[in-house]
Amino acid sequence: MNEDLKIPNHVGIILDGNGRWAKMRGKPRTYGHTKGFTNLKKLAKHVFDRGVNVLSVYAFSTENFKRSKEEVDFLMNLFVDKFHELEKISNKNDIKIVFSGIKDKPLPDDVIKVIKDIEEKTKNNKPFVFNICVNYGGNYEIVDATKKIAKEVLDNKLSINDINVDLFSKYLYNDLPPVDFLIRTSGEQRVSNFMLYQIAYSEFYFPDTYFPEFDEK
Ligand code: IPE
Ligand code: IPE
Ligand code: MG
Repeated sequence: MNEDLKIPNHVGIILDGNGRWAKMRGKPRTYGHTKGFTNLKKLAKHVFDRGVNVLSVYAFSTENFKRSKEEVDFLMNLFVDKFHELEKISNKNDIKIVFSGIKDKPLPDDVIKVIKDIEEKTKNNKPFVFNICVNYGGNYEIVDATKKIAKEVLDNKLSINDINVDLFSKYLYNDLPPVDFLIRTSGEQRVSNFMLYQIAYSEFYFPDTYFPEFDEK
C-alpha cells in the first residue's frame, strides 16, 4: 500500500462485465450478477475503510430495461432479495444508503419498496454515503432537476438569478459532492449516462478486470 496515495472524497464505479465474466466460465449471465453483488458488498466495505466518504455505483441504468425479460426479472429479484444485506453492513459501519434514479415504473413495486425502506432505515447514519444508481440515467437526472427548478420559478419560490452550479446540484436526485475518481471495469471506455453532472472534473480509470473479480488490490 502506498501511504502517499491521495484518497478521493467521492468514488464512482460503473460495475461492468458481469455477463462476460460468467460466459467465460460457461455459466449464464445471471450467475455473473450474483457474483457481482457479492463482490460489491466486499468492495464497498473496503472503499469506506480506506477513507473514501462517498461511493456511487451504477447498478442498473434506464437503458438496461431493454435487456431480455429473463435477465431484467433476475436482476429485480436480486435487488429485492439482497439489498437488505447492504443495509446490515451499513448500519454497522455508519454508512447512509441513498438511491439515485427514477423510483417509479418500470421498476417493480417490490423494488421501489425495498429502496425506500433501506433509505429510511439508514437515513441517520454518518459520515459515509453509499449512493446506488438504479433505473438511473444521467440525462434524465438533469432534466428532472430542471423541471423541479422551473416549477419553483413559476411558483415564485425561486428567482432565475438564484440558479447557479451549486444550487442546481441540490435539485439532483441526491445532493452529493462531485465525483473525483471514476472507475469502469471490464475494459469498456464509455460513460453510459452515469452521473453526467457530477463527473465534470473526474479522473477516469478503466481496468480490464470484469467486475466480479475487481477487488481491493
Ligand atoms: C454489469 O454487467 C451489470 C449491469 C449492467 C446490471 P453487464 O451485465 O453489463 O455485463 P457485460 O457487460 O454484458 O459483460
Ligand atoms: C452500464 O453498463 C450500466 C450499468 C453498469 C448499470 P452497460 O453494460 O449496461 O452499458 P452499455 O450499454 O454497454 O454501455
Ligand atoms: Mg455491460
